[in-house]
Amino acid sequence: MASASANGAHVLVASNRGPVSYALDESGELTARRGGGGLVSGLSAIGPEAGAVWVCSALGDGDREAVRRGVGEPGVRMLDIDAATHADAYNGIANSVLWFVHHMLYQTPLEPVFDAGFRRQWASYEAYNRAFAEALAEEAARGAAVLVQDYHLVLVPRMLRELRPDLRIGHFSHTPWAPPEYFRMLPDDIAAQVLRGILGADRAAFLTQRWADAFTDCCQAVLGGPGVPSGTRIGVHGLGADADFLRRRAHEADVDERMGSLREQIGTAPDGSPRRSIVRVDRTELSKNIVRGLLAYEQLLEDRPSWRERVVHVALAYPSRQDLKVYRDYMDEVQRVASAINSRYGTADWTPVVLHLKDDFARSLAAYRLGDVALVNPIRDGMNLVAKEVPVVSDEGCVLVLSREAGAYEELGEDAVVVNPYDIGGTARALHEGLSMARGERAERTKRLAAAATALPPTQWFLAQLRALDD
Ligand code: F6P
Repeated sequence: MASASANGAHVLVASNRGPVSYALDESGELTARRGGGGLVSGLSAIGPEAGAVWVCSALGDGDREAVRRGVGEPGVRMLDIDAATHADAYNGIANSVLWFVHHMLYQTPLEPVFDAGFRRQWASYEAYNRAFAEALAEEAARGAAVLVQDYHLVLVPRMLRELRPDLRIGHFSHTPWAPPEYFRMLPDDIAAQVLRGILGADRAAFLTQRWADAFTDCCQAVLGGPGVPSGTRIGVHGLGADADFLRRRAHEADVDERMGSLREQIGTAPDGSPRRSIVRVDRTELSKNIVRGLLAYEQLLEDRPSWRERVVHVALAYPSRQDLKVYRDYMDEVQRVASAINSRYGTADWTPVVLHLKDDFARSLAAYRLGDVALVNPIRDGMNLVAKEVPVVSDEGCVLVLSREAGAYEELGEDAVVVNPYDIGGTARALHEGLSMARGERAERTKRLAAAATALPPTQWFLAQLRALDD
């Protein structure tokens, strides 16, 4: 059993992606890039006196070089896990198996494939989780609170509990949780290991009650007996948008500049009025359902020709997980469908789909500010923060067309135009409804959406998890 270090941290966070990453240029220079998000604001809110430590993974050449040179930020411990082990754990198990199960993305007849290759990758996933558990056990003061994040690290709570029974351990899932009928696609021993891994925590928390209930149902179906044992509590914390940060950031000069260029690309209708815009902002991720969104837009143009030349679909689809072929293919498909729509309907001065593929936060904020309708139509999504950020930042009100399968639906469903994400015709009708909504109603709904979206801002979300571990 590892012993508590005398000067150990009292609060620890563990996640695959950390708060900082390093880029290595050709001259061998390392540049640090700091990330944002709920955990970053939460940790900064508890202050340095808490002696917090964030354990994360070195993710690229820059990060690995930083670890080798001993370059780092105070309070961040980056683990340089062997690259092949990390690739198997992250690309193989976390992103190709656990992500696919929870987002119900497998397509028969070829998937899933649980063969010898899968077992080898699973061994890497265990090794990767063990490296985190050991680092956390070394860094933690006696009785410290440890917040383990997401599907990359589901085995950590149990492993850490065995190393350090004195710790208070929480696990937080940022994804949906699959219902038992789907979850049980995993080989029985693996399904049980995933659940028992998380149940090593004092508290397992989720973004919505729906995902928490699915986890409880899986525990009952797979483990039998009472399912969740009395030692583990289940919690729900619906991460909200950071209104102060977003409103400040959305009015900086680079966002104004991006608004200017997007407006130019959207252009004016034949009657001289500014065209309407349907915006979307996503990682190019299979669960985000970008292609069906494009097809719904195409159907809108087909069924209601009066919208032709009067509307533009601004789709910001940023690269994600490009090591995986299925993601690269999806990116190609998004581009293919967008250009097919443009060839079919476009005119000399109207480009129906404006597609941007380069990640640019200022451009995302510009799209949030000027969009008339925001399309958020994932097949399944843990929460979806775009749905929460748009109403906070929108200049004149924006209609939210929202999938009922996004976690955000629980809080925003009443004031959104709700869609079944598989139904292209229904989504086309929802886009029409959004574009046709009277300005007054649109503004009123946006105001209510913004209030609901900011109910639990990132700092409060983080502190609520810490407080709940104390109870
Ligand atoms: O839970 C999903 C998540 O981990 C999010 O926190 C994040 O938006 C996304 O996946 C990022 O994925 P990756 O780290 O693979 O780029």
